[in-house]
Amino acid sequence: MGGDVSSSAALNGKRLVLAVTGSIAAYKAVGVLRALQTQGATVSVIMTRGATKFMTPLTFEVLSGRRVVTDLFEAHEAMPHLTMAEDADAVLVAPATANVLAKAALGLADDVLTTMLLNVRCPVIVAPAMDGEMWTHPTVVQHVDVLRARGVIVLDPEVGPLASGRVAQGRLPAEEKVLEAVHAVVCPQTDWRGQRVLVSAGPTQEPLDPVRFLSNRSSGKMGYAIAEAVRARGGDVVLVTGPSALRPPSGVTAVHVNTASEMADALSQHFASCSVLIMAAAVADFRPRVTASGKLKKQGKSEMELVLEATPDILTMLSARRTSQVVVGFAAETEQVLSHAIDKLRGKGLDLIVANDVSHVGGGFGSDDNAAVILSATGEQRVFGLMPKRQLADEILNAVRDLCFMAPRGASLVE
Ligand code: C5P
Repeated sequence: MGGDVSSSAALNGKRLVLAVTGSIAAYKAVGVLRALQTQGATVSVIMTRGATKFMTPLTFEVLSGRRVVTDLFEAHEAMPHLTMAEDADAVLVAPATANVLAKAALGLADDVLTTMLLNVRCPVIVAPAMDGEMWTHPTVVQHVDVLRARGVIVLDPEVGPLASGRVAQGRLPAEEKVLEAVHAVVCPQTDWRGQRVLVSAGPTQEPLDPVRFLSNRSSGKMGYAIAEAVRARGGDVVLVTGPSALRPPSGVTAVHVNTASEMADALSQHFASCSVLIMAAAVADFRPRVTASGKLKKQGKSEMELVLEATPDILTMLSARRTSQVVVGFAAETEQVLSHAIDKLRGKGLDLIVANDVSHVGGGFGSDDNAAVILSATGEQRVFGLMPKRQLADEILNAVRDLCFMAPRGASLVE
């Protein structure tokens, strides 16, 4: 995260370009503009032709105190696409339509906004808003991937009621999220710069036969949030992920795996070159001893026995192999959370463990929120109530920074 998002002077002296495109959510750009100004930013507004069908340029002109640029060929401004963002700290496209995502991904330049996007060298943040069917359309997915790979920060739209009446993912991200992204870019925190962090995320899938597997309810959200937080704070990330519906955050090297054994191989390969391992994946503890080569048949059986064998414990294996790496594990528990977590911290030789009660209402697997206790090998405890996983990710990074990077190694709970 950047600085304090709620602070009134947090964006003092920052120059931003707010580009409004033709989504029904264009009216929400007024709130975004006001919030940016309240925090001290100077904001110039660009509107596409589509945006002017929803909102008048006059509204933004009066509120920004600056002329709103809508046309590449306006007589009174020479080359606005070159001059507007010349000294900008960031360009924020909010709301961004599927159309502008496509044009930006392909490098088209048929209006003042898209032409400017080819000229700017400052960070670009995009807050999409569109119908859910559009957001998940393969073409849009592809364009978002292209933009993210290029370093553009494309926020995920929110799930909720849309103008079409449907409930789906497509709402403009909440003003707070948009501001958070602006802060992260224009007042970046850099306390993780120089760290190379190996993060594991998601479930594993252990095959029974070519069509069936054993897995768990992990969504990957916690690990992905940690990867995003490390990037936002200046670190490099290798994200080894089991199957997840999430898209890896921008700027992260993602390695996709399925089984515990593939995850062990991928993590082993990157461990030596990393300074921190954060093991948020819900790795299967057991896998079928035999994977059938053909689909298992019912053949009139009324029951069937499945023989399982233990998977390698990746954390134990890697922590035994460490040179100077900090090793962080997770303990997802349903009872006696703290005592089980302390056992794991000791047994696996960890520096920190993040313990959470996955039976907690509103937190745990699949949820956007989590409540956790962070325990260190030196006996420190930090307790966090239910909070968004992205925020908890920052708290985990704070704990690693304070308790592991800064603290002398030595006194330890690990006997
Ligand atoms: O022992 P348990 O599976 O509950 O420990 C959880 C922690 O150990 C998590 O950080 C998980 O990623 C890690 N783990 C592992 N290898 C396994 C199973 C779990 O590294 N085979």
